[in-house]
Amino acid sequence: MNIRIMAAKDIEAATDLQERVYSAIPPFTRHQFESLLEHFPQGQFVAELDGKIVGLAVALVITWDDYSLHHTWDSVTNNGFFDTHDMSGRTLYGAEVCVDPEIRHQGVGHGLYEARRKLCRAMNLKRIIAGGRLPGYYKVAGQMPPDEYAKRVVWGDIYDPVLRFQLGEGFNYCGILKGYLPADDDSLGNAALIVWLNPEFEAERPTQLPPAKLLQEEI
Ligand SMILES: CC(C)(COP(=O)(O)OP(=O)(O)OC[C@H]1O[C@@H](n2cnc3c(N)ncnc32)[C@H](O)[C@@H]1OP(=O)(O)O)[C@@H](O)C(=O)NCCC(=O)NCCS
Repeated sequence: MNIRIMAAKDIEAATDLQERVYSAIPPFTRHQFESLLEHFPQGQFVAELDGKIVGLAVALVITWDDYSLHHTWDSVTNNGFFDTHDMSGRTLYGAEVCVDPEIRHQGVGHGLYEARRKLCRAMNLKRIIAGGRLPGYYKVAGQMPPDEYAKRVVWGDIYDPVLRFQLGEGFNYCGILKGYLPADDDSLGNAALIVWLNPEFEAERPTQLPPAKLLQEEI
């Protein structure tokens, strides 16, 4: 498996992948992918196996204070056009990660998250934040609110394939974002606010944007 920076030639395969992964959430449009690659090419990764795109991770840089009190996926990405990408911010925001259902639990997600952490370190950003789906929540929604569900995942009493994976990747659970992604039926629109702090962050050192070629060698 090879993790590399996404290119325009990957758009069709990335769309196909999102269609295979999500039943209710629509894939990004070509225009949205193009906008993403235009604003922040260094932040977009694909996982490739035998020439096939099997994973995708999408990120942008934001000023967290602009979103910390309340945000949705639409507000942080400007409806998926990603022109909210703001290099004066110090937070890498994970806006999408998905892996082909055929090859889950084989480390592809880990590889994509590791590439993101390397990007965060290389750019000297303070942290990675994301709104994580809670795809198992709909099964127990009648029995508990989403925060209890997430806490039970943290405690290890409920298994959720996304939040458990993210906790295993060193992220901390910070609370529930209600109405984060209304199309996400499985999570009933909820998401878990998660954060990973970059241990190498130096506040006095400015953000750096490594050239894509150099970054590719690192990831
Ligand atoms: C979340 C997601 C990206 C994880 O991808 P993945 O490729 O399965 O991730 P990994 O294989 O690295 O890790 C998943 C689990 O497999 C385990 N694993 C990894 N390699 C393994 C191996 N070789 N043998 C056995 N287990 C393995 C990991 O420890 C992890 O276990 P955990 O869930 O108990 O923590 C994937 O489930 C997905 O695409 N979900 C749908 C899309 C989605 O909701 N994305 C999140 C948006 S917020």
